[in-house]
Amino acid sequence: MKYKVVAEPLEQYEIDAINKYIDEHEDARNDILNILLTIQRNLKENYIGEEVATIVSEKVGIPLVQLYDVLTFYSMLNTEPHAKYIVELCTCAPCYLSDSDSVQVMVEDELGIKMGEHTEDWLFQLEECACVGACDIGPIIKIGDEIHGNLTREKIRRIFGELRAKKDL
Ligand code: FES
Repeated sequence: MKYKVVAEPLEQYEIDAINKYIDEHEDARNDILNILLTIQRNLKENYIGEEVATIVSEKVGIPLVQLYDVLTFYSMLNTEPHAKYIVELCTCAPCYLSDSDSVQVMVEDELGIKMGEHTEDWLFQLEECACVGACDIGPIIKIGDEIHGNLTREKIRRIFGELRAKKDL
């Protein structure tokens, strides 16, 4: 099944949750980075789009243009839909020669998506990456700061299983 990276309008419960969260933080204006990060983390598509930015701007009393300065300054804030975990598969020559193609098939099978797609729940997105200097354990996948090598189907399944379990905490 294919999913495109597209923005969906906020659900009413998401709007209510954003408003409630800001209401609970009297000092939101002075803690805007953490406010935005928390809101982003709790949204399905993991990003601060125009709709969210407008709500925050009005609620916190920060002009939209100023809020966009914050959004574009910090790389951990996303202004476009973004899966929670970006799974990057190294396809550079050493990993390729160690059969990154087979690892790609296993990863795609386990996630139910193809390269460049994201899962329906926006938990995972699959992308290619360049060499990260771990060729000796390649082919590798990188998820955030973690590099996983010496991959087998069981290991891949365990890695994704642990991340799925975290989501449910
Ligand atoms: S080529 Fe893949 S980690 Fe170096």
